[in-house]
Amino acid sequence: MQNALNYARAHQDRFLAELFDLLSIPSVSTDPAFGDDVARAAEWLAGHLASLGATGARAHHTGGHPIVVGQSAGPRAKPTILVYGHYDVQPPDPLDLWISPPFVPEVRNGRIYARGACDDKGQLFIWLKALESYVKTEGSPPVNMKFILEGEEESGSTHLPPYISGHADSLAADVVLISDTALFAPGVPSITCGLRGMAYVEVSLTGPDRDLHSGTYGGAIENPINVLGRLIGGLHDADHRIAISGFYDDVRPLSLAERAGFARLPFDEGAWAREVGVQHLRTEAGFTALEGATSRPTLDCNGIWGGYTGEGAKTVLPSRASAKISMRLVPDQDPADIGCKIRTHFEEHAPATMQVSVQELHGAVPVLVNTDSAAMEAAAQALNAVYKQRPHFVRIGGSIPVVADFKELMGLDCVLMGFGLDSDAIHSPNEHFGVDRFQQGIEAAIRFMALYGSNV
Ligand code: BES
Ligand code: ZN
Repeated sequence: MQNALNYARAHQDRFLAELFDLLSIPSVSTDPAFGDDVARAAEWLAGHLASLGATGARAHHTGGHPIVVGQSAGPRAKPTILVYGHYDVQPPDPLDLWISPPFVPEVRNGRIYARGACDDKGQLFIWLKALESYVKTEGSPPVNMKFILEGEEESGSTHLPPYISGHADSLAADVVLISDTALFAPGVPSITCGLRGMAYVEVSLTGPDRDLHSGTYGGAIENPINVLGRLIGGLHDADHRIAISGFYDDVRPLSLAERAGFARLPFDEGAWAREVGVQHLRTEAGFTALEGATSRPTLDCNGIWGGYTGEGAKTVLPSRASAKISMRLVPDQDPADIGCKIRTHFEEHAPATMQVSVQELHGAVPVLVNTDSAAMEAAAQALNAVYKQRPHFVRIGGSIPVVADFKELMGLDCVLMGFGLDSDAIHSPNEHFGVDRFQQGIEAAIRFMALYGSNV
């Protein structure tokens, strides 16, 4: 292991230069205009895996974006880890808020700035470079290593579950390793033990069959934007609970022990709020901000449009108003059930003047991860060695849809060992990833493989 660690330190600059190549490819999965770029990122990764001696390295074409696989054999008697990551990224908009262009990576103040630097190209690359460090010093990794890298995570992982079911034999492993989450705080390691799920809908209200003059018709024809605003406003009650009938029916309450665990975490609410420029937080009554942001369900309107939004004034009574709404779910809520409940809510609450359409875009099942395993202990020890403290087990508010799929389709547990920070601006302008955390991640991955290989 020491040789691999030394190799990784000696080759840091080249590792960074290679990561820059990957970051330069605008692999935005949600926008079809970037389809060729997503495919190019997949080919780049398959080629890179092959250059590290991985066997079967290739980009599989699915009905959607490609899935990259490859493997590298370790000692026959040793366990197999399956590394999952996603090479697709969120759209970079709004572009004018980026200090340097999103697909022209650069290091400033010790941070790599680019869309995907942290989420998730920088973090998945950690595992490729850990593999390289072993291959180039010891000939092979100390455990068997397989990779599955997808290009649709940011748009709901639609084609991944059927791929996993269809390739369960070639993907067979003892555990899945994922670096797509965050440290608890700078220098404070954590292993994610819970992820929220997701139900995502697009709602449209249509009133008149065309845009109208608001002077001729306003006052007698109802305005869809006014109604949509009212309905969205009514989705939360005064306690900031979600006012959809039956929404909380399947929410597993937080136990006293879990809540005590939250209270013990080194979380500075004030600093967390200030970092995003707010002075006041808004949480569901009876819960702390940390509980609200990780372990309670939420509803957020992600975008809203309709009518005239150009320069100056246009006196229009629009025909239609639409909104995208995401709901973060917690165990044991079911995305399909919640999708039904919000549909019913809009259908029942919209006035007779409106036609309602609710389209379900995608979902993810919420998960709590088994933390009692040899792989978890190896991950905890690896992080302890790098950060000189044991990691906290924490639930996070984000979603990684495939975690529930690996459990359901292959019976596999995931170890979520992430090196981001909440302040890395993932999904926002100026996304970045600390060069130090990229290096710490590689070191932790190298240590994890050695520990897991020697303990099992
Ligand atoms: N890397 C994130 C998950 C994440 C979010 C980790 C926040 C740590 C903090 C992942 O790439 C992501 O953004 N997932 C999407 C999934 C969704 C589209 C189903 C998310 O959470 O919005
Ligand atoms: Zn993301």
